[in-house]
Amino acid sequence: MNYKIAVVAGDGIGPEVMEQNIAVLNAIGEKFGHTFEYTYVLGGGCAIDKYGEPLPQETIDVCKASDSVLLGAVGGWQWDTLPGDKRPERALLGLRGALGLYANLRPATLHDALKDACPLKPELVADGVDIMVVRELTGGMYFGEKGRKMTDMGEAAYDVEQYSVKEVERITRTAFEIARKRNKHVTNVDKQNVLESSRLWRSVVLEVAKDYPDVELDHLYVDNASMQLIMRPTTFDVIVTGNIFGDILSDEASQMTGSIGMLPSASLGEGTLGMYEPVHGSAPDIAGKDLANPIATILSGAMMLKYSFGLQEEAKCIEDAVTKVLDKGYRTGDIMSEGMKQVGCKEMGKLIIENL
Ligand code: IPM
Ligand code: MN
Repeated sequence: MNYKIAVVAGDGIGPEVMEQNIAVLNAIGEKFGHTFEYTYVLGGGCAIDKYGEPLPQETIDVCKASDSVLLGAVGGWQWDTLPGDKRPERALLGLRGALGLYANLRPATLHDALKDACPLKPELVADGVDIMVVRELTGGMYFGEKGRKMTDMGEAAYDVEQYSVKEVERITRTAFEIARKRNKHVTNVDKQNVLESSRLWRSVVLEVAKDYPDVELDHLYVDNASMQLIMRPTTFDVIVTGNIFGDILSDEASQMTGSIGMLPSASLGEGTLGMYEPVHGSAPDIAGKDLANPIATILSGAMMLKYSFGLQEEAKCIEDAVTKVLDKGYRTGDIMSEGMKQVGCKEMGKLIIENL
């Protein structure tokens, strides 16, 4: 098969981790007889520098016309003082919105070989961590009305947290469908003791759950959820939550994997078009030094094969190669521990290819 892929490598370490991702995908293409055709487009700070805007229309058009989108990372100190709608992050948010990618899957899996790199006590993670955070991605306060106004306390700013029944319904279904293929357990995270938007959220989750009697459902307030994640990480399966809570909890969950450099993500909508990116950011402090961990991006490539192209075996081949390389003791700086062999970004990519 031939697949058209839009590539938004972005800023900071984005281009270098993407280079390794594409090398791995090409090796997979050769091994399994697929061709991947890449169109490179600009998004983020590099697009601001070239076109004066973070998300040019051409980038949106190319992404829409592709079978899927790979994204590296956007942002950096150069663009930190720009107003909100001109910042590099707009590229990410704009693409999620324009492509209708409302479901963000962030699997936090702790490889056996990385148990040392996990900051939790060994006994807490002895049973292995395997959590799928299903984060709503195109609603909530990220996309609600925002602005400034004068109040009797002086100037104020607001970002409205709003969720519609339809928005909650579709993300909840995504979570339950995924749970059915895993350990059949969904934990809903909200703040319904305080927020009206969470009360609607909770009622819709309960309604949708009636269609999934085979899946266990429980609920946690977000503050408690952040605590339980640290105390009993191995008891979670699928977590479904809104945009802002999911943003925060997925960073927390990433630490269970040893490093945020290990966590891939898939952003999906109604069709098969998806956007695949590492959960980590652009890390400008280590950019261009061959220090970045490409594994999160390479595992995002595997998620693309699985979720957009239905290539299960090919995806598994990449995941297994990553496990093999870790088992052999190779580590990038972020997951380095005593007695292991430290390698750079390029070498890590090469090792994964050799182990496909
Ligand atoms: C993420 C990032 C983004 C988000 C930022 C960069 C806009 O933190 O993908 O988690 O908040 O969604
Ligand atoms: Mn985040």
